[in-house]
Amino acid sequence: MTDKTSSQLWTGRFTEATDAFVEAFTASEHYDRRLYRQDIRGSQAHARMLNRVGVLSDADTRAIVEGLDAIAGEIERGEFPWSPALEDVHMNIEARLTERIGDAGKRLHTGRSRNDQIATDVRLWLRETVEEAVVLLRRFQAGLVDLAEREAETVMPGFTHLQVAQPITFGHHMLAWYEMLVRDEGRFTDCGNRANVMPLGSAALAGTTFPIDRAQTCAELGFDAPSRNSLDAVSDRDFAIEFLSAAATAMTHLSRMAEELILWTSPMFDFIDLPDRYCTGSSIMPQKKNPDVAELVRGKTARVHGALHAMLTLMKGQPLAYNRDNQEDKEPLFDAADALLDSLRAFADMVPKLAVKREHTREAARRGFATATDLADYLVRRGVAFRDAHEIVGRAVRQGVDTGRDLAQMSLEELQQFSEAIEADVFEVLTLEGSVAARDHVGGTAPAQVHAQVAAARERLARE
Ligand code: ARG
Repeated sequence: MTDKTSSQLWTGRFTEATDAFVEAFTASEHYDRRLYRQDIRGSQAHARMLNRVGVLSDADTRAIVEGLDAIAGEIERGEFPWSPALEDVHMNIEARLTERIGDAGKRLHTGRSRNDQIATDVRLWLRETVEEAVVLLRRFQAGLVDLAEREAETVMPGFTHLQVAQPITFGHHMLAWYEMLVRDEGRFTDCGNRANVMPLGSAALAGTTFPIDRAQTCAELGFDAPSRNSLDAVSDRDFAIEFLSAAATAMTHLSRMAEELILWTSPMFDFIDLPDRYCTGSSIMPQKKNPDVAELVRGKTARVHGALHAMLTLMKGQPLAYNRDNQEDKEPLFDAADALLDSLRAFADMVPKLAVKREHTREAARRGFATATDLADYLVRRGVAFRDAHEIVGRAVRQGVDTGRDLAQMSLEELQQFSEAIEADVFEVLTLEGSVAARDHVGGTAPAQVHAQVAAARERLARE
């Protein structure tokens, strides 16, 4: 019989120590130590519950609860002796507890398993992470609403196919971003609510023979309800998939915004300026000011999308109930959460501070014949069929392109060559300001609508 190492907590049925490589291969403490607060909180609730139902003595319970508090202090001060030989956060903390308080520490694991323990820890962590995401999403939303109000009258080109399409207001564009974030918030809240079910008490897979009171641990840990099926509770990672799905969608939104910010800061567009403190220079090209924060947000989207795919694939082959595969859920979850929260923080700080180069956005709309549709609509109002109007305006635009002028720069006589229906009042619709002001209905780009949506958004942000 080989000598066994004494640090492991499950050596009873083993005749030889774990292979050194296998020990390292199976260890997760170097990343799941991040769950120490949730793990300690869950253990304290479990101990208090065991005490109430008469399984743990008052003295043992007090020693456990206080010992765990002391361990939290050790971890926070960087004094905790983490050991990969003890595999994970659970066994590291439990072994240290026994070291500190003796036999009482060995009684803590009564009526539970690491399987329900980890499922509980991750849900507690996810709940906090969702709350953080929602706080940041709302801060970003509020910043966009302020920016929209500031730029409610600012004209810029609206694009389809990245070609100038129609004039819009910059404020309207910012409120489009706001809408994406409102839906993201809904997805996170929804996922957080569904995740708030407590696996603790499911034990390894079938429940426990001890007279546990799950309603009490549930209330202490702030879960909405105990899980109804122990097999499902220890093996389910839907909540992680849902969280990553919401995160992947939110990152897709941030990445789209990033792409626009990058285009707009390019001298080719030159629509906006970002504060210097959110940009970096080039070590070789002195003229460069690079939108790195936006580029990194766009880049980090890849990791979050990857994490979602990893989690879906992690779960697809698993029979009930717990399998060690599940240990692989944490790194993608933590990495995605970090990327998401950092990206939200970066944009919530930076985007509301962008400066719009209003003459440039206006000029870009003018040069792009953005009011061509307005001229067609004008002709329709004078009895021309839309298809004919489209053709007429197309010819006028061609002449503008050939002579280097936009429609508003042509004389009335010149415009009348294309259609007799055109009269002097045509210039009201050919102006950029007239064009945006005319789209004055719910959802339209008119400054009046932007102000109305800003007011509604502020009310929503104050209410919920
Ligand atoms: N570290 C494990 C995980 O993350 C905890 C549960 C381990 N359970 C087990 N029976 N080995 O999933």
